[in-house]
Amino acid sequence: MPILSSAANPEPIPNLLQAKPLPEDAPNRPEEKIRPQSLAEYVGQGELKQVLDIAIQAAKSRQEYLDHLLLYGPPGLGKTTIALILAAEMGVTCKVTSAPALERPRDIVGLLVNLKPGDILFIDEIHRLSRMTEELLYPAMEDFRLDITIGKGQSARSRSLPLQRFTLVGATTRAGALTSPLRDRFGLIQRLRFYNPEELSQIISRTAQILQATVTPEACLEIARRARGTPRIANRLLKRVRDYGAVKHQGKITDLIAQEALELFNVDPKGLDWTDRRLLTVLIETYRGGPAGLDALAAATGEDAQTIEEVYEPYLMKIGYLQRTPRGRMATPQAWQHLGYQFPGEQLPLLEL
Ligand SMILES: Nc1ncnc2c1ncn2[C@@H]1O[C@H](COP(=O)(O)OP(=O)(O)O)[C@@H](O)[C@H]1O
Ligand SMILES: [Mg+2]
Repeated sequence: MPILSSAANPEPIPNLLQAKPLPEDAPNRPEEKIRPQSLAEYVGQGELKQVLDIAIQAAKSRQEYLDHLLLYGPPGLGKTTIALILAAEMGVTCKVTSAPALERPRDIVGLLVNLKPGDILFIDEIHRLSRMTEELLYPAMEDFRLDITIGKGQSARSRSLPLQRFTLVGATTRAGALTSPLRDRFGLIQRLRFYNPEELSQIISRTAQILQATVTPEACLEIARRARGTPRIANRLLKRVRDYGAVKHQGKITDLIAQEALELFNVDPKGLDWTDRRLLTVLIETYRGGPAGLDALAAATGEDAQTIEEVYEPYLMKIGYLQRTPRGRMATPQAWQHLGYQFPGEQLPLLEL
């Protein structure tokens, strides 16, 4: 059985497999044209697109505005993109902000009073709103009204300000962390799912066209398989493969070149990153496959428990490498095999003697 060593766990080029946005993913970069601009260009998420398509058509035909929408799911799956597309489809402006930027009540007040009819207000990481900001949002979402207090002490008076009708789109990786009064004020709550390799391959092929790179369909699929079900990672891997191809080969990128590049960058064939591999390795070597508690895994990987639960585990469960059981996390036989361990099977208790 291999021992736990850094050689068994080569760390990929930092950040290549990170689902959370990096500076290169920031809005307004030239890469922004990679982001789909319409629902028709948005690949996958069939159910979500159907729901939104109906909502858009209904709102348009009744000349009303869209209901407030809550999007949840792991990072990099296309939540921000949906908010921008909705605004484009409705012909309104989308104001983008995130909960940590709305620390003081006047931050949200400033945004709300400046919205024009039908505008979309996108709040990222909405589970992190401060209490005061959240309480200002309740009447704003429900009755398009701001209840504010002016002055202090005895001379304090509360005033109610009317707002334009707007649509709040909230995004979160943790739907469970929202308070129920906030959650209840969303007319639509939609989950984003990991993409399958075929969908990711389609996204990669589209991005390649925009970047004017020639990538064969087989190469797109090769990159797709390693992208953790996540468009943001798929596009990032494509860019690195393109760079590699440009320097080493010139001309079109074949699946062999893609493989070569991804191996050079230490991208695992299943898209596992260092933390995934470490997590599974600890489960296997220290806990003989589990069950092990979330906190133990957090300590072993140096990630906080919440990140493991929301970012790492969903993908490992999706590809069938990890199970959550009432007693703790378990590595599946496929995980043992992928990391080069022999699965002990049912003989485990005997081996322990
Ligand atoms: N369905 C999709 N089709 C094509 N590209 C997508 C899709 N979803 C996301 N992307 C790409 O992935 C990137 C990350 O998406 P984003 O909406 O910022 O994710 P999130 O807000 O969920 O973290 C976008 O810039 C976009 O290029
Ligand atoms: Mg986002």
